[in-house]
Amino acid sequence: MCTSGPDPTGLDQDVVLASRFSLGEKLFILTLETREMFSRVQPGQFVLLRTAAGLDPLLGRPFAICGQEGNRIEIIVAVAGRGTRLLADSALGVRLSLRGPLGNGFPESTKSRTHCLAGAVGIAPFLLARQQNGESEIHLGVPGQDWEPLVNWVSERIHGLHVYSEDGKLGNRGNPLLCLDGLDPRSDVVWACGPTGMLKAVSAVCGKRQIAAWVSLETRMACGMGGCHGCVVQTVDGPKKTCTDGPVFHSQEVLWNAS
Ligand SMILES: Cc1cc2nc3c(=O)[nH]c(=O)nc-3n(C[C@H](O)[C@H](O)[C@H](O)COP(=O)(O)OP(=O)(O)OC[C@H]3O[C@@H](n4cnc5c(N)ncnc54)[C@H](O)[C@@H]3O)c2cc1C
Ligand code: FES
Repeated sequence: MCTSGPDPTGLDQDVVLASRFSLGEKLFILTLETREMFSRVQPGQFVLLRTAAGLDPLLGRPFAICGQEGNRIEIIVAVAGRGTRLLADSALGVRLSLRGPLGNGFPESTKSRTHCLAGAVGIAPFLLARQQNGESEIHLGVPGQDWEPLVNWVSERIHGLHVYSEDGKLGNRGNPLLCLDGLDPRSDVVWACGPTGMLKAVSAVCGKRQIAAWVSLETRMACGMGGCHGCVVQTVDGPKKTCTDGPVFHSQEVLWNAS
């Protein structure tokens, strides 16, 4: 991402790392102070973020926006590799380079109840959804007890959160797909964000039960603006770009087994 010279898109800006809250060695909540105010961000929209100093890593990393207030936005960073480690270790007050908000976000629904299914840090867009509209039912699944700090942090923000863990030590034993059994296709809609395996399973169950479901895909990204073809996914309508056509797609649109 180029940070020098005028930005013809108006989407690039330097931001300040205003606060960092640790939920463990590999999980952080970062608050970023933006110079240019964002308009209202749609849950599911994301930013590309990179350290502003030097060219390593060259490319920004995508993060869903989980909170927005005034000229501050919040993201959850799970350390996965070098880019996320550098961002998580950045000193408070440092300038970071941000591109966004990007992508489409989850569509507003005319159905009466939205059920948000999250796998671990896939909770990010649903924190924003709850901040904007208190109506949705939110289901968070985590692998096990190690994720207790995230579950506690989210529980403080989402009243009535439904929790699931594979080992049964936090909330219900199992995963958020358990809630699909009780849904009514006439009145319920599903939004899902998390690992690809979970999204694929949501798509299979919702397809079978004719429940309308939207999924937020995680692909690798480079430009975030449709220019590099680095994020293409196969759909029933041909190849689409996760950064500009998504990241949110109708679950039945995605060809899950295409390479
Ligand atoms: C739209 C979108 C929203 C996202 N929101 C969040 C979020 O809110 N919080 C969060 O912690 N992470 C989020 N991610 C994933 C995050 O962008 C990746 O974990 C990050 O780019 C990894 O960078 P890295 O340099 O640390 O890892 P790398 O060293 O590049 O890779 C480390 C590991 O992570 C995998 N990986 C790399 N890029 C991605 C990617 N884009 N998606 C999934 N796996 C990847 C690699 O295959 C490898 O196994 C999001 C991704 C997308 C596309
Ligand atoms: S990341 Fe470049 S086209 Fe999507």
